[in-house]
Amino acid sequence: MTQLANKIAVVTGATRGVGLACARALAERGANVFICARNETKVSEVVESLRKEFGDRAAGCVCDVRNYDQVRTAVLEAEKAFGGVDILINNAGVGSRNHVENMPVEEWRTTIETNLSGVFHFCHEVIPLMKRRGGGYIINIGSLAGKNAFPGGGAYNASKFGLVGFSEALMQEVRYDHIRVSYVMPGSINTTFASRSELDPATTWKLLAEDVAVVVVNLLEMHPRALPSCVEIRPSEPAK
Ligand SMILES: NC(=O)c1ccc[n+]([C@@H]2O[C@H](COP(=O)([O-])OP(=O)(O)OC[C@H]3O[C@@H](n4cnc5c(N)ncnc54)[C@H](OP(=O)(O)O)[C@@H]3O)[C@@H](O)[C@H]2O)c1
Repeated sequence: MTQLANKIAVVTGATRGVGLACARALAERGANVFICARNETKVSEVVESLRKEFGDRAAGCVCDVRNYDQVRTAVLEAEKAFGGVDILINNAGVGSRNHVENMPVEEWRTTIETNLSGVFHFCHEVIPLMKRRGGGYIINIGSLAGKNAFPGGGAYNASKFGLVGFSEALMQEVRYDHIRVSYVMPGSINTTFASRSELDPATTWKLLAEDVAVVVVNLLEMHPRALPSCVEIRPSEPAK
């Protein structure tokens, strides 16, 4: 049994990449895991495969984090499935690389609404449940793009810089309710993020999704008196 055994975790954007790696790592440590994403087929496939391995400790539903009503429903479903929420991993995110003058308004909106408003939606719904259970842990998956701007990063940088401010304010708001808040800022990860259709097998220098999941698990397993509120993780030897 680990510290995470029987805890109830919600992981957003958990049908692939970092979210899936976090969901698996949590289930491996005995947590109940509730996942969500937009693609219904993928959600069913991932829940089914987690259930094969971990039994009824996995559940999930379709949820677009941009849509507040869908988020409310997802949190109710998680509560119905497992009886509450102890851990929230706000991972769902989209990439954007476009100069401001060329960026369709829809791309701006999608980026901000997914990467920033989606996190607000889930926190807003989950915090009262955590308070009722006497505490919890919220981990927001940010990016090093939350401190390093780049040309073409107008939307993505704004969303991830915004996530830093949001996470730090929230951390101070809920710490005395025994709810810890951390954000993780990864560098390049070998996932299908930002419209890459396949993992790149030739790229060996990037982080793996599992590396970020290790950080998430380590945070969750810290003693409750300790709060590493921000963790940066980058490839140790990036391509020159
Ligand atoms: N990959 C990198 O290099 C990198 C670097 C730093 C930080 N990050 C951050 O790490 C997080 C995960 O990235 P990743 O590389 O694992 O991405 P990914 O492989 O593209 O996976 C993204 C996940 O989020 C879901 N998702 C996207 N939009 C959603 C929405 N509106 N509502 C609900 N779910 C949604 C996707 O499923 P559906 O499409 O079915 O919804 C998928 O499950 C993101 O926050 C990203 O910003 C990534």
